[in-house]
This record gives sequence, C-alpha cells and structure tokens, in this order.
Amino acid sequence: MDNESTLLTGQRLSKQFKGLLAVSGVDIEIAEGEIVGLIGPNGAGKSTTFNLLSGFLKPTAGRLTIRGVDMSGAVPEQVSKQGLVRTFQHGSYLPSMTVHDNVLIGCLGGIRSGRVKTADRRRNIDDAIGLFGLAGHETDIARNLPHGLQRLLSMAIAFAARPALICFDEPLTGLNQTEVAGTLDVYRQLTSTHRMSILLVEHNMRAVMSICDRIYVLHHGEIIFTGTPDTVKTSDVVLKAYLGEAHDI
Ligand SMILES: Nc1ncnc2c1ncn2[C@@H]1O[C@H](COP(=O)(O)OP(=O)(O)O)[C@@H](O)[C@H]1O
Ligand SMILES: [Mg+2]
Repeated sequence: MDNESTLLTGQRLSKQFKGLLAVSGVDIEIAEGEIVGLIGPNGAGKSTTFNLLSGFLKPTAGRLTIRGVDMSGAVPEQVSKQGLVRTFQHGSYLPSMTVHDNVLIGCLGGIRSGRVKTADRRRNIDDAIGLFGLAGHETDIARNLPHGLQRLLSMAIAFAARPALICFDEPLTGLNQTEVAGTLDVYRQLTSTHRMSILLVEHNMRAVMSICDRIYVLHHGEIIFTGTPDTVKTSDVVLKAYLGEAHDI
C-alpha cells in the first residue's frame, strides 16, 4: 500500500520501558480516508503505540513517516503540523475553559499548521461545535458538561485543527448507545465529507467492527493480526489472545 494514498507508515516501531518491551516491531499503515482500528487486551500497548505515532514518546527503534516526511523522533507539535492530531484516553480539553475557547485552541492549531485560513476561523469553530452536537453549549465551562459532551468536546477540538489523520484513544467510553451511534455517524462524515483518516483505539467491539475498514490486533506489544472486521472476528489467534479477557469480540 506504499503509494500516494498512504498517509502514515510505521515500520518496525518499538518502545522499551526499562525491562518491558511495551511495543515490539509494529508495522502499521493508514491510507487517506481510511478508518483503522487498533485493538487488543488491556496492557497490549495500544496507548503506547498512539504515543509513538503522535510524538509523545520517542521510539526505541523503528521509523515513522507521515505524508512522505520522516517523523521518527519528532515532537508532538511537529507531528500535528504534519497532519496527525490525537485525543487522550482520559479526555483532552481544558476543564476551566468554555466549550468555545477549547474548540478555538484546536482551531488555532489548524491555523498555525496552515490547514485553516485565519479568515475561516469563526466558521471552522461553528462547524466543529455543530458537527459534534455541542451547539447551545458554547459558553458552558467544560468541566460542568455531562460526560458524553466532554467526550464529544475532546473530539471537536481535534477536528477543529483539521488534521489529515485523527487518532482517537477510547473515545466512546461512558457514552450511551444513542451517543455512540451519533459519534459513529460523525466519523463517517469525517472520512467522506472531510476526507480525513481515523485511527481508533476502542473497547466497544461492536462499534469497532461496524465502523472500521481494517483492524490491527495488538497482543503483548506485537501485531498478531491485521484484516477486515469479518476476518478479525473469526481469527483463531485473535480469539486466543482475548481468552480470559472480559471483552466480547
Ligand atoms: N510510561 C511508562 N513506563 C513504564 N511502563 C509503561 C509506560 N506506559 C505504559 N507502560 C506499560 O506498557 C504496557 C502497555 O501499556 P499501554 O500502551 O498503556 O497498553 P493499552 O493502552 O493497550 O492498555 C503496559 O504493561 C504498561 O504498564
Ligand atoms: Mg490504553
């Protein structure tokens, strides 16, 4: 798949924490417009992989290329300028600021990176607020929002930076079924209308299976399987990795 449509390539990425090899020789590719899942039991190395892709951790070994530029060892700001923006597992917004100002911060990241024109600032913020169902909450302080809206706010901030690739770390945790369905609809719009790609780490297997084009399965820091949702569901190695885990697959 190494052609023009490849957005991100990670080659043999590894991360060693003292005695623990948390991520080991991970090969990952994401194409333009693709929704890619990254799943695996707790402690498999999903968040560490996210940190390696987004510049929050330096790989011990391996190479990272984003839109044709070598980003191995780059810091988060360089990676986000190159078009990759991520959310964090436990929320990524400033709790004491309003919804509007939080989304503005995302938008300013887009302006700094040249993906959003200064003249489009107002419209971009309104679009992000509208898309993620936050209209009417612009002046609410983020910490006072219900949990579901806080999750959506983290995603709206990332979207407002207009990246080529958004990496969501467990974005659906604590959302009710209606909120999950609404969020998956938004993901489809991100890829179809906005031509973004998505990397999704998520424990809600039903959601992952329904939205992803392709899935990588991590176990003990290694990719043990890659394929479409249907092939993942019926893979013996995947089922074995999940045995003893409290997940439905
Ligand atoms: N900063 C760190 N220092 C030491 N060990 C870490 C660090 N971050 C993660 N780990 C360990 O690396 C492994 C993978 O963690 P993580 O990537 O958070 O897994 P996941 O997101 O799949 O649950 C775990 O054993 C975890 O304890
Ligand atoms: Mg994690």
